[in-house]
Amino acid sequence: MNDVSRSFRGNSNAARDIAHHLHPYTNFKKHEETGPLTIVRGRGIYVTDDDGKEYIEGMAGLWSAALGFSNERLATVAYEQMKQLPFYHAFNQRSHEPAINLAEKLKQMAPVEMSKVFFANSGSEANDTVVKMVWYMNNALGRPNKKKIVSRLKGYHGITVASGSLTGLPNNHRSFDLPIAGIIHTTTPHYYRGAQSGETEDQFTTRCAEELEALIVKEGGADHVAAMICEPVMGAGGVIVPPKGYYEKIQAVCRKYDMLFVADEVICGFGRTGNVWGSQTMNIKPDILTCAKALSASFLPISAVMVNDKVYQALADESNKIGVWGHGFTYSGHPVAAAVALEAQKIYDEIDLFGHARRMSPAFAKHIQSFADHPLVGEAMSVGMVGALEVVADKKTKAPFDMATVGAGNRVYNHAVARGLFIRNMGDRVAICPPLIINESELADLFGRLRQALDATLADLKSEGHFKG
Ligand SMILES: Cc1ncc(COP(=O)(O)O)c(C=O)c1O
Repeated sequence: MNDVSRSFRGNSNAARDIAHHLHPYTNFKKHEETGPLTIVRGRGIYVTDDDGKEYIEGMAGLWSAALGFSNERLATVAYEQMKQLPFYHAFNQRSHEPAINLAEKLKQMAPVEMSKVFFANSGSEANDTVVKMVWYMNNALGRPNKKKIVSRLKGYHGITVASGSLTGLPNNHRSFDLPIAGIIHTTTPHYYRGAQSGETEDQFTTRCAEELEALIVKEGGADHVAAMICEPVMGAGGVIVPPKGYYEKIQAVCRKYDMLFVADEVICGFGRTGNVWGSQTMNIKPDILTCAKALSASFLPISAVMVNDKVYQALADESNKIGVWGHGFTYSGHPVAAAVALEAQKIYDEIDLFGHARRMSPAFAKHIQSFADHPLVGEAMSVGMVGALEVVADKKTKAPFDMATVGAGNRVYNHAVARGLFIRNMGDRVAICPPLIINESELADLFGRLRQALDATLADLKSEGHFKG
């Protein structure tokens, strides 16, 4: 994925990693040459590698570690829960208090009235569960043809077979034989890249809604298309905040065709966009909501699917007809993960983490916007505590750098790592999504390092003749 050259010896972590460990999201051949960057400990917003070098984790790991990388209370709760009941399942009407408490808490927090909460272990599992719920529900309602699900190009919903199909990114489909039938993708609501010449934001969002409607009609209309899934703010597709009015227009189209609206809050949930939910920031009224990541501050794997009563009643009828809802994971609502997630939510409340994130958002936005006139930056965008810079070869024409020969975003990433900062480049879009506990001086430090990384990239590109400026 990214090119971080590291030295490694015979029995070093790096050598053993290369010998034994198959990584997610990695070019395996490149990994054999460069080895891993091995992290050994965390403290606040910082993580430290096995050479003792400290980094600001400007991505909260994978958009997720809201409380950073150390928390005594979560460690204690996990230990206490392990002593009392280290594992139990929720199959066949068994239950335990951590899962009950967490389901109750999530329902209280939900952006709209929800009826029930189903637990899984990852965002992918949660979204796979949604696909199956939509299919099961429509069978229950006697609508066996109404099964297609709309997602968006550049949307990210995970990597399992169904959630990977919902994802609208080429590298998650190529050579995996995805997407599966019945998953269809519509326009990315990215005004900077997607708007036609002279098109206003309002005209652009109207066109997004029209293109969605045309796709639904082409796929058979209300009889065939069952649901649409959206990240309120698109994350792994490049941190794309749709223009004002977009969600009102596309939700109206979904209502017209009697489709469910699913909010994938795996990144946006728990304060990231300045409200508890991205749905609140973007004015979305979901029938189904998925969340993960900051649900447990990422201290343990757990995800959740919340469904409204309309969905629940259909699922309940079908499970009664068949005799069982034949879906669930050994670790659905795992007691240790659920106890840690519940404690994370208590901590969020006690320290007013969501209020803190909201109060830090203007400073975050100011830092992001301070890059708008950098020679390399075409777009500088943020909402709440997540943002991105798009690196371009020509600010005026928005012409990109050649990805294969220049790899400008990757260079920014490498220069940032060299300066003790983790960001993420998705092509030439550079994302910043720090732990929500970050304070103003840490934020200034983060963006200071990022500016140095951009300036160093600019110097490289100029000296190599890639940037004419
Ligand atoms: C919006 C969104 N949905 C789903 C997922 C998949 O989650 P996981 O990696 O836990 O399967 C991610 C992961 O980044 C995500 O960003």
